[in-house]
Amino acid sequence: MKLSGKIALVTGGARGLGRAAALAMAREGASIVVADLLADIAKESAEEIRETGVEALAIVADISNSDAIDEAFARTQSILAGSTSSSITRVSRLTGWSWNSL
Ligand SMILES: NC(=O)c1ccc[n+]([C@@H]2O[C@H](COP(=O)([O-])OP(=O)(O)OC[C@H]3O[C@@H](n4cnc5c(N)ncnc54)[C@H](O)[C@@H]3O)[C@@H](O)[C@H]2O)c1
Repeated sequence: MKLSGKIALVTGGARGLGRAAALAMAREGASIVVADLLADIAKESAEEIRETGVEALAIVADISNSDAIDEAFARTQSILAGSTSSSITRVSRLTGWSWNSL
């Protein structure tokens, strides 16, 4: 599996394209964090992902808010990674301007 040992934070992962991407990455072995505005549907999505045999959790986050993005990465790091990954740190340090320009 191509993504074993990786963690994917999937924004908008409760439904639609985000959910499909989350499931596709889970099938390749990635642990998944579903970050979405919709708590109940995000939780259902995470449960479905866990059925594929990987770790998954749901968090409520409004990704239009840079503070919420930082929090989502921090929670991902503490709950699933348990260590400081450079890629997580880099993204969480995006300024509001650089996030908006993505
Ligand atoms: N479905 C398509 O064929 C298609 C084609 C081209 C582009 N797109 C674009 O791709 C994106 C996703 O499309 P979709 O069909 O999967 O939509 P969708 O509505 O099915 O899913 C979007 C998900 O994002 C979540 N979300 C929205 N705003 C959020 C926010 N601020 N913070 C956290 N979560 C948020 C929603 O709660 C929902 O779960 C949209 O921008 C859409 O315009 C979709």
